Amino acid sequence: MTAQPIIIDTDPGQDDAVAILLALACPDALEVLGLTCVAGNVPLDLTTRNARIACELAGRADLPVFAGCERPLRGELLTAEHVHGETGLDGPYLPEPEMPLQPGHAVEFIIETVRSRPEETVTLVALGPLTNIATAFETAPEIAAKLRGIVVMGGTQHVAGNATPSAEFNMHVDPHAADIVMRAGVPLTLVPLDVTHRALVTPPRNAALRAIGTPVGRAVADLTGFIERYDPDRFGEAGAPLHDPCVIGWLVRPDLFRSSRVNLTVETDDDETLGMTVMDWPGAQGRAPNATVLNEIEAEGFFDLLIERLARL
Ligand code: RIB
Ligand code: CA
Repeated sequence: MTAQPIIIDTDPGQDDAVAILLALACPDALEVLGLTCVAGNVPLDLTTRNARIACELAGRADLPVFAGCERPLRGELLTAEHVHGETGLDGPYLPEPEMPLQPGHAVEFIIETVRSRPEETVTLVALGPLTNIATAFETAPEIAAKLRGIVVMGGTQHVAGNATPSAEFNMHVDPHAADIVMRAGVPLTLVPLDVTHRALVTPPRNAALRAIGTPVGRAVADLTGFIERYDPDRFGEAGAPLHDPCVIGWLVRPDLFRSSRVNLTVETDDDETLGMTVMDWPGAQGRAPNATVLNEIEAEGFFDLLIERLARL
């Protein structure tokens, strides 16, 4: 299998960091061309810091990391320090990054990378609000047709939202960007809360991560241990949901997931349901499918993959 070239657009966040580590632990399957950072879980200066910390933890200080958009297309930035801590990467002690940020804007990196690569080879992996990617599509509309696809962590179907009762965080922070991406015609795969809330770092799984016995294993156990405290109160489940790593899991082992074709839209006007994703499974509204939405995960197989791969770093 040749490695699939990807750009990871991210707002680290502990779960983003684990996703970045997992992606870098799968060089046989994924060629990470670069990281583009966006404001989301924490402001942009911290997401760019945290992305570089993750790269250095993986031994990849060579990876190009870019700063992108510092606020959503409209309105003010909503962050999630109550989940991720003040730094966005609370939990383990990890040294400040030494690797530099790349000059140039993340949006330009996305545009120039897609333009310079063969048709339908690059996949965008979106782990945060979709501001950078929507801005790239608005700036250079022709790149949408050049992409192999886009895989997005976000949205929810049957599970309550985690930003508001009806909306998942990435969609709620920048619903207008999400709307642009959903309408762009790029083959889109969505990994919603319905799936990520079944990938819980339960205490035995956290112990298995720590038992890897390496700096990466210990850091991931501390990272997931930190974010665990938020969700059990809200969702009554023991363990941190590994939202963003599920995206990498699907890219590397799609056989661990089940999916359906749907018509996917996002609420961009109503304040009460801003960012709510609507997935027309049965075709009730008569709209053509525009997305593949994951709806099942083999959680044990996913954690086996995660632990086996992280142990390689
Ligand atoms: O709702 C979960 C998503 O929002 C994850 O990507 C998390 O990192 C935050 O960005
Ligand atoms: Ca994220």
